[in-house]
Amino acid sequence: MGEEGFTADSSLLYHVHPPTAILGAEPVPDATPCFSDNHPLLPRHFRTGRLDAGGDLVTGRRTLIGNDDLRLSHAAATDASGLYRNAGGDEMVYIESGAADLESVFGVVRAAPGDYVVIPACTTHRWVPTSADPVRALIVEAAGHIRPPSRYLSTTGQFLEHAPFSERDLRGPSFSVPASTGEASVLVRHRAGLTRYTYLHHPFDVVGWDGCLYPYAFSIYDFEPLVKRFHAPPPVHQTFEGPNFVVCSFCPRPFDFDPDAVAVPYNHANVDSDEVLFYVGGDFMSRKGSGVGQGSMTLHPAGFVHGPQPGSVEASFGQARTDELAVMVDTFHPLRLGAAARDVEDPDYAWTWARGSSG
Ligand SMILES: [Fe+2]
Repeated sequence: MGEEGFTADSSLLYHVHPPTAILGAEPVPDATPCFSDNHPLLPRHFRTGRLDAGGDLVTGRRTLIGNDDLRLSHAAATDASGLYRNAGGDEMVYIESGAADLESVFGVVRAAPGDYVVIPACTTHRWVPTSADPVRALIVEAAGHIRPPSRYLSTTGQFLEHAPFSERDLRGPSFSVPASTGEASVLVRHRAGLTRYTYLHHPFDVVGWDGCLYPYAFSIYDFEPLVKRFHAPPPVHQTFEGPNFVVCSFCPRPFDFDPDAVAVPYNHANVDSDEVLFYVGGDFMSRKGSGVGQGSMTLHPAGFVHGPQPGSVEASFGQARTDELAVMVDTFHPLRLGAAARDVEDPDYAWTWARGSSG
């Protein structure tokens, strides 16, 4: 399998049986989310912890927001998924809590809290929870490829030493000769919807592979934050880039180290992007009084100036470090709202900067 017409990364997979033999193809109803515009334009707060747990990490997704470049969903999965592949683009699954194995034609990636798991488009895989608790996860479905930022890489693809992570931090699949045989069904997401194939031979009949295209995990705890004397804007936190979006990791770190530095972000306007923050751990000092907590997702759209809640600038004086942990997705085109987002929206959020506190 190869990306971009075999002019980009590729891998060779050695199947025992032809991976081409299909016995059937059935259309599957697709609960395509009905997106609505963020209109009137408002900052939004969605409490993902209020979404019901159940289902699996593929079909149990609740789509919160999206546009033509990506969909952002949340799942609290309790079941193993069936075999699945997304032909529309790469997927990135961030594990908020719980644990799961990503089983694929390349082998197994073990995923734990804090892991970003990047799954190349067209990789046949399934998710198997390995924790007693539901696997809570943020899922990014991209209409293209999700990669480390090119500015972190040499012209031949090695991570540069100034990058906040390196090859050592990426965990590829561990391969063992699989025992799966016989017919198998695979759910395929493609531009027109969902199709279920029945294969004559199980796709996990791979006896080996080589190449540079494979799923991998990167733990947010292995991100090495870059800190300046005064406030550094979000590009220092960048972790991945996708088609018309970036993913950033906000990790525990010392605050800006000038004695007069104001440690929380200044009020700012994202002129060309909608900003999504998913709060996954630690203490969110700059959001005190906003109602934001573990599992919260905020959307600060272009056209709305945002910043710390009242009082948090003063509260930051004398603080040496932050232990916040958050995943940010900045999109270069406006995001629209899905039904699940409306279900768990905090209606008071937009007014918290004026009122100071909503609890
Ligand atoms: Fe921001």
